[in-house]
Amino acid sequence: MKTRLLHDDPQGIETAAAILRAGGLVAFGTETVYGLGADAGNDRAVSAIYTAKGRPGINPLISHFASADAAFTQVVATPLAHRLAERFWPGPLTLVLPRAPACTISPIATAGLPTAAVRVPAGRTIHALLVACGFPVVAPSANPSGRVSPSDAGHVLAGLDGRIDAVLDCGPCTVGVESTILDLSGARPVLLRPGGVTLEMLEEACGMPVATMAGGDDTRPSAPGQLSSHYAPGLPVRLDAQTVAADEALLAFGPELPGSGLAWNLSSRGDLHEAAARLFAGLRFLDMEGHRRGLVRIAVQHVPGHGLGRAIRDRLIRAASPRS
Ligand code: TXA
Ligand code: MG
Repeated sequence: MKTRLLHDDPQGIETAAAILRAGGLVAFGTETVYGLGADAGNDRAVSAIYTAKGRPGINPLISHFASADAAFTQVVATPLAHRLAERFWPGPLTLVLPRAPACTISPIATAGLPTAAVRVPAGRTIHALLVACGFPVVAPSANPSGRVSPSDAGHVLAGLDGRIDAVLDCGPCTVGVESTILDLSGARPVLLRPGGVTLEMLEEACGMPVATMAGGDDTRPSAPGQLSSHYAPGLPVRLDAQTVAADEALLAFGPELPGSGLAWNLSSRGDLHEAAARLFAGLRFLDMEGHRRGLVRIAVQHVPGHGLGRAIRDRLIRAASPRS
């Protein structure tokens, strides 16, 4: 199938909604990364996402909504869920809650689990698209399973052109790493994936410690199907480099190590927000250009593990994990 490139205007948004309504697959930008969307209630459309991405069926999808009210018709929300929604939505936070009895999300999208992951993404275009749809839209990151996530429309086409119906070009993503996933289905909140809302912000808003299963230097997979090897470029990745060789590409942070064959600085002034927004584009650039120049590896300078650095390090550790 030919993948259409839709523009960020009322006509592009209406076309995207019409394709989704008809059971097609449309990629779109959110504040975090580009997602590959389908009607959450349409089993065939949801299955087509797994096929297009080559994604294991045990890995459930996040459902996206135009408002917290819409999200909370699908799951059983707790008072804490309402509080966090009030504080962080629209924004890069995903909540895992028990499916509501009236939940219309396909069990294929939740991988047969009794819970569902829901979020209200930020951004004028994605909001307009979700309003136009009027149904929950499931969307994993719009990349072939296991590879680097896309932060612009070109990245989506590089990985999925010909396998999806359309891409709605929403410009570059502002946050740059995926949403934080917080499991609220148990007695205490558990962080399943560090992301755009930091652990520090969550703990402050929850008024209690949040258990972490992922992030920092912990390489265990946490959310189901989130394999430790992920975000993998073609070239091997070496973390916390203190020197760099001429046959290596360098992903720098802060003052740049001398001597690399090619460099991309996440943030020369050491700003974690800037680094997150430039992370996936940088990995893609070093991989492609490094490969072209015959470089053998991507060396990564140390990124601190606090604030947004926790999510950045999580992605880098997975990018460096042995490939399965
Ligand atoms: O920022 C984001 O969250 C992006 C944009 C497109 O919204 N989406 C995204 O989706 O990152 P994906 O599929 O790449 O990651 C979804 C993660 C997976 O690790 C999955 O295991 C977890 O969410 N997940 C989904 N439903 C879950 C559930 N019921 N319980 C636990 N984890 C769940
Ligand atoms: Mg993903």
